[in-house]
Amino acid sequence: MDTLVSSTLGTAKPGDPCLLLIVGAAGDLTQRLLMPALLNLAEDRLLPERFAVVGFGLEPFTHEQFRARVSAGIRQHATRSPFAEETWSELVSRIYFFSGDCDDRSAHARLADLLAETDLRHRTEGNLLVYMATPPSLFGTISRNVRQSPVMERKRGWTRLIVEKPFGHDLASAIELNRSILAHWPEDELFRIDHYLGKETIQNLLAFRFSNGIYEPLWNKNHIDHIQLTVAETVAVERRGSYYDRTGVLRDMIQNHMLQMLAHLCMEPPSSFSPDAIRNEKIKVLDAVRSLKPEEVRRDAVRGQYGPGAKPDGTPLPAYRDEPGVAARSETETYAALRLFVDTWRWEGVPIYLRSGKALWKRSAEIVVVFRKAPEVVFSGTPSARLDSNKLIFHIQPDQGIEFRFQAKVPGPSMTLQRVNMRFDYRDAFEAQRGTGYEVLIYSAMTGDSTLFSRTDLVEASWRIAQPILDVWSAEPPVDFPNYPAGSWGPKAASELLARDGRAWVEILHRDVLGRVPIFRSGNPTFLQNLALTLEPASFAAGEAILTKGEPGREMYFLCRGRVEILDGEKKLNTLGSGDFFGELALLYSTPRRSSVRALESCDVLVLRTEDFMRVLKDHPDVAASLQEIARERYGSPEQ
Ligand code: BG6
Repeated sequence: MDTLVSSTLGTAKPGDPCLLLIVGAAGDLTQRLLMPALLNLAEDRLLPERFAVVGFGLEPFTHEQFRARVSAGIRQHATRSPFAEETWSELVSRIYFFSGDCDDRSAHARLADLLAETDLRHRTEGNLLVYMATPPSLFGTISRNVRQSPVMERKRGWTRLIVEKPFGHDLASAIELNRSILAHWPEDELFRIDHYLGKETIQNLLAFRFSNGIYEPLWNKNHIDHIQLTVAETVAVERRGSYYDRTGVLRDMIQNHMLQMLAHLCMEPPSSFSPDAIRNEKIKVLDAVRSLKPEEVRRDAVRGQYGPGAKPDGTPLPAYRDEPGVAARSETETYAALRLFVDTWRWEGVPIYLRSGKALWKRSAEIVVVFRKAPEVVFSGTPSARLDSNKLIFHIQPDQGIEFRFQAKVPGPSMTLQRVNMRFDYRDAFEAQRGTGYEVLIYSAMTGDSTLFSRTDLVEASWRIAQPILDVWSAEPPVDFPNYPAGSWGPKAASELLARDGRAWVEILHRDVLGRVPIFRSGNPTFLQNLALTLEPASFAAGEAILTKGEPGREMYFLCRGRVEILDGEKKLNTLGSGDFFGELALLYSTPRRSSVRALESCDVLVLRTEDFMRVLKDHPDVAASLQEIARERYGSPEQ
């Protein structure tokens, strides 16, 4: 889990006095996220003074042992430095542990004693926040047992239940889980966590859209060509193989986090910022997402699974099927890309493409809103006959910011255009501390604000979108898994999904990605910035022809991953690998291609088009000189 710049929650007041009961407290979540988030809240003076934590679990810990355990964990997972020693020692003195089985009623009677005692000692006014940090299979039972336990019989004050994901495994199980929880807990006491809604950048979508007058009039099918949502991860499944193998990326990331992002981006303006006003608008969007018919699933939903490969730093990664806990012939998808439509007046006919995957070439989450192009005819006869679309990019992680891409005239006598951008970065604009993203969620639950939590109808609506895809995928096993190497740019079919519509994924090229090509490493910031806006990623399958001898040269290629062979007919002239480039000769000397290039294995490349290449040559003579030098070394001069 990433650490994020957390909101300091402005001038907010501390949460209501309360007792936080963490069920399943000995697990990873408490150590990695909940304790660091509580510490950050305490540091920001947002934790109520009258507050205590009771951990509940099967483990036979005493209070002291549990405190020692979380104290060891916090040093590893705290997000701020220097570590807030004093605040932590004060906080940890308010942490207790209750050892028992949640299924055992006598345990609940004893727990009720401890909670009553703790409530009295810390004067928490009988308010109880229950956090279910257990495996999902226990959610139904625990929510019933807590509700029916003596804890509740003796209680005064409010009670709220926080439920972690995953909320259901499919539509039927989500409906059943909702039914079993709602039988004991009213909706307004339920707080279903989706940690993406705790991310500042996602929350800011609403602020951006509704507090700035210029965007809303453009936010519709008349001005927006399409939208792309990406959450790419470099991590593989790590220690979570057995969970993940039952889940897959559609359930793990898309059904919940990414559909929430889509709802924030596409909803109508709410009448107020009250939780239900916002959630009422979100449900309308999700309800309007067109349900895919089986033939549309086959056409508009791509799935992938990674094979062996390497992390961007070169560390080898095993194939998904060789990960611990994963079935040897697993058909679980670790990558998915979808094309969806929201059938409303606002969005009719605007494709919304979503993709997410594990073990990819870069960690990057962003939303790209691609506007319709300006009429190109005005520029015909100028060196810039081809125009680009304007793009508004919400960078969610690791960078956090908002970027607008447009075109500007290159200084000089001709009407030559170049891609440029304007960018707002959170780090420049705000003095904010790093956090886990859970601070705002816990704080909201303490204050009873359910805006950032999912509601029954929202959960079920998003499963309704995913279910037809799950149905087709389970009925029709994949035939080509694994279909992308770990560390690559994902399955080729994901690019084809957009290419079919005449579009391409907008890839955000971070500096570290450019750094994988040696010739870029020493580039000055203007050059790198220019490249990041100019280069276009592409992938080729093993055996695929990239260039053909005799054809005119329209672009050159930088090889980020994989190997290619340079051929004259069937005669091999050379083999190139990661970090090399090819295709520059025809551009440098304006000649047809002198040789063919074929992918020896699956390859990821960055493509530089002729007009951009020419500009690089002109503006960056040092780079031009090294390109020429390397070309001369490799092939001699073209006249020879
Ligand atoms: C979780 C998924 O919900 O989100 C994980 O279960 C995934 O598989 C994680 O890695 C990603 O969260 P973040 O905040 O790191 O983007």
